[in-house]
Amino acid sequence: MFIRSKYLRLAAFVALSLSVITAVHGAADNLPVYTDDTLSSGWQNWSWSTDINLAATDLHAGSSGTSLSVNSSAWAALSLKADSPFTDYAGLRFDIAGAEPGIQIYFQGGTDDASTPQIPLSVINKDVTADKFTTLLIDFKSLPGTGSVLPDGPWDRINFQALGDGAAYHLDNIVLLSEIVVTPEILSAEPITNDIVAVSTKGAVNLTDITVSLSGKTITVTNRTTYTPVDSPAKSITYLSLASPFKAGNLVIKSGNSSFTHVLPAAQTGSITTSTTPISPLIYGVNFPTSANYIKDLGVTVSRWGGNAVTAYNPFGDFTNAGNDWYFENRASENGKADDWIGWVNGAGSASVLTVPALDWVAKDTTSYSYPKTIYPDQQKFDPYNTDAGNGMLTNGSYVSPVADPTRAYTPWNTTAAKTWLSGLKNKPKFVNIDNEIEIASSTHQDMHPIDIGYDEELKRIVDFATVAKQAIPSVLVAAPSSCSWWFYWTSRIGWSDTTAHNNTDFLPWFLAQMKLQEQKAKKRILDYLDIHYYFQPDTSANDDAAKALRLRMTRSLWDPTYVDESWAGSDPQNHQPNGTIIQLIPRMKSLIAQNYPGTKLSIGEWSSQNDNDLTGGLVTADVLGLFGRYGVDYATYWATPNEQGPVGLAYWLYRGYGTYFGNSLSQVRLSTPLPNTQGVFAAAEKGKTSIVIVNKNPSTPISFSLTGVPAGKYFIRHFGGAAGAAKWQTTINLKAANYIVVPPYTALFLKQN
Ligand SMILES: *[C@@H]1O[C@H](CO)[C@@H](O)[C@H](O)[C@H]1NC(C)=O
Ligand SMILES: *[C@@H]1O[C@H](CO)[C@@H](O)[C@H](O)[C@H]1NC(C)=O
Ligand SMILES: *[C@@H]1O[C@H](CO)[C@@H](O)[C@H](O)[C@H]1NC(C)=O
Ligand SMILES: *[C@@H]1O[C@H](CO)[C@@H](O)[C@H](O)[C@H]1NC(C)=O
Ligand SMILES: *[C@@H]1O[C@H](CO)[C@@H](O)[C@H](O)[C@H]1NC(C)=O
Ligand SMILES: *[C@@H]1O[C@H](CO)[C@@H](O)[C@H](O)[C@H]1NC(C)=O
Ligand SMILES: *[C@@H]1O[C@H](CO)[C@@H](O)[C@H](O)[C@H]1NC(C)=O
Ligand SMILES: *[C@@H]1O[C@H](CO)[C@@H](O)[C@H](O)[C@H]1NC(C)=O
Ligand SMILES: *[C@@H]1O[C@H](CO)[C@@H](O)[C@H](O)[C@H]1NC(C)=O
Repeated sequence: MFIRSKYLRLAAFVALSLSVITAVHGAADNLPVYTDDTLSSGWQNWSWSTDINLAATDLHAGSSGTSLSVNSSAWAALSLKADSPFTDYAGLRFDIAGAEPGIQIYFQGGTDDASTPQIPLSVINKDVTADKFTTLLIDFKSLPGTGSVLPDGPWDRINFQALGDGAAYHLDNIVLLSEIVVTPEILSAEPITNDIVAVSTKGAVNLTDITVSLSGKTITVTNRTTYTPVDSPAKSITYLSLASPFKAGNLVIKSGNSSFTHVLPAAQTGSITTSTTPISPLIYGVNFPTSANYIKDLGVTVSRWGGNAVTAYNPFGDFTNAGNDWYFENRASENGKADDWIGWVNGAGSASVLTVPALDWVAKDTTSYSYPKTIYPDQQKFDPYNTDAGNGMLTNGSYVSPVADPTRAYTPWNTTAAKTWLSGLKNKPKFVNIDNEIEIASSTHQDMHPIDIGYDEELKRIVDFATVAKQAIPSVLVAAPSSCSWWFYWTSRIGWSDTTAHNNTDFLPWFLAQMKLQEQKAKKRILDYLDIHYYFQPDTSANDDAAKALRLRMTRSLWDPTYVDESWAGSDPQNHQPNGTIIQLIPRMKSLIAQNYPGTKLSIGEWSSQNDNDLTGGLVTADVLGLFGRYGVDYATYWATPNEQGPVGLAYWLYRGYGTYFGNSLSQVRLSTPLPNTQGVFAAAEKGKTSIVIVNKNPSTPISFSLTGVPAGKYFIRHFGGAAGAAKWQTTINLKAANYIVVPPYTALFLKQN
């Protein structure tokens, strides 16, 4: 790949050949980017909205007595551009100091400004401090967090970009490395299934002398197979088959001077019983998949065109407006034309969900915005990239007045326009959402809908737009109202007076009852799916050990009738629901449907693990996908687009990757000691073949099960997580017995009978 693209560049652009040669030549030595008090020759400052001091004297790492001090506002960046691509280098090293600065690093280049995935500083190192420099390394063959390879591309720009809170920090000794010497190392050695030790390594490790012993007795290694995952080739895994199976005891694995010890616990007993209850294939969805290959690799069964910006999507020009996510500015649709998007998504084998705008306005162009400084001079914040565009708020946090003129950024929209658009689509969506979280439009889109939406307005908009959607596309399934969160399932933004005025009935049950009446009036169903967005309410942003454990147990709010939510929702019930502190989301919604509009299906159009970059986010996702199947969600799409190689992407791969699926009919799992805080155990069947997913949420303790109903024989195995990080592994094993199946710490395991 790399050779070929270099050859093509040389052949096509003779004028560029010099710089290509320079780059190749340069790779023989390290290439300094910044040292002492200056950028190296050939490097330019392409930063934006960032104060830079190249010769700060308050802190330094080298001998020069100076460093590079950086202050960036939200999403601004220190951006350093080279004269030619640095693709030939092995990695980037730099010294950094700052109070845990919220930044991410990525590379850019080429005429279309392509860029690599962002690498948050927190996944490279969590211990960067303000008072001294820490040296960090980005290995282009093993990117921090995912272990994946830097994608091919003409990268010639290094961006240190601040996240939403801005960032102030110091850098020193920024250098591209010609070579990274990998020290051979055994990263982990973990027991998995009934007689396999999975050893992950980097570099050329010699495992010939490896020994395994259980409670002091040596166990012979009968076979070893080494496997190098395509997505993270810097690490390898060697599966050691043992002559006798695991049982409770002290497992010690030794090679050279490395030693790994695990206390294998007594097996928890349980049974697996097949049933004919189907698992909906449509629970494995995401919003805005990146490509057809992404859909195929992860097995994405449903894809949603959604989010705040599509409320103002104008299909007759492909414009959107960012709303209060970004200064109420219009822009070109980031996902192109909806019709084309449906076409390629469907073509890749994924069902599509299209959001139909249902307010009175859509974006009129790619450039207008609602709160110009020239009209509203005293605003709280202005876009750092467009200092005339404000956020519509006064410095004291109140909205500016008078309210914005909607014609400044928008053009009118109504059901006639929606019908024209939907009727003319060449590619038909399977589902439509009637807009997105419009119950909070007076905040997200206050420039065009400053009045709070109440029960009646929301119902009318959904009925009107759902009716024309079904006229335009008779087969389409309507999923609404796509309420943003727990609070708004029960009331409107007007507040409890609105609830009181509606027979004192919480919003969703009222909405369902009204949609049932609507069916009687229209003589046909116009709501097919009760669609909600579900964001776990506990705050796990600290991402320390306690927050990770909370993140991993909060999945109980999806189903558990005894789990009091560990957030405000669990201490301050703001609804008329029985047991209001216990969310029990899926059974609760199913019972509301049964009471108010039987036959309606349930979809979760947005949900999130709360951390796309941490391994625990991947384990949460594996647990949730199992729970969606078990409790009968009909479709679901993750918000937003998980990185294919990141922990959340791996959870999709685990269940669905590359055409090997978790079964489609649910098997009952009964455990003698269910421990939902620390483990998830799921089973299914497909054409008589058993599949199992076990999620071990313990950070350092293996778990083990003795399961009846799991036949011995050959199984396809996949797993991710463990002490070596999130990398994915898969192979085929011989499961000799199901009376002692081990899952290592922080690991999600998938087994499917061959
Ligand atoms: C780098 O560029 C930014 C953005 O244009 C500018 O604000 C800054 O002053 C420049 N810094 C230096 C040291 O040239
Ligand atoms: C960044 O901000 C800090 C404190 O706000 C200030 O001391 C420092 O001089 C600033 N650095 C630059 C390069 O503007
Ligand atoms: C691996 O180590 C063994 C001894 O433990 C040695 O005999 C063998 O030559 C080594 N293999 C390699 C490739 O270094
Ligand atoms: C060792 O495992 C590999 C891969 O699973 C298999 O092809 C081979 O036959 C096994 N060898 C022995 C001796 O069992
Ligand atoms: C372990 O062994 C390797 C090579 O056998 C050696 O380079 C390394 O220093 C040793 N590490 C420790 C901690 O003894
Ligand atoms: C903010 O200032 C405006 C204009 O002075 C005023 O009308 C509004 O009440 C103030 N809001 C708050 C929260 O004080
Ligand atoms: C929608 O707007 C168009 C253009 O103003 C108008 O002709 C049409 O009657 C409107 N449709 C509805 C249902 O109000
Ligand atoms: C009002 O609510 C009560 C109990 O929740 C219910 O029995 C009654 O039918 C409702 N009335 C209307 C008009 O919806
Ligand atoms: C409320 O929770 C208790 C305890 O879990 C349970 O026994 C009861 O059935 C629940 N009530 C309702 C209406 O869900």
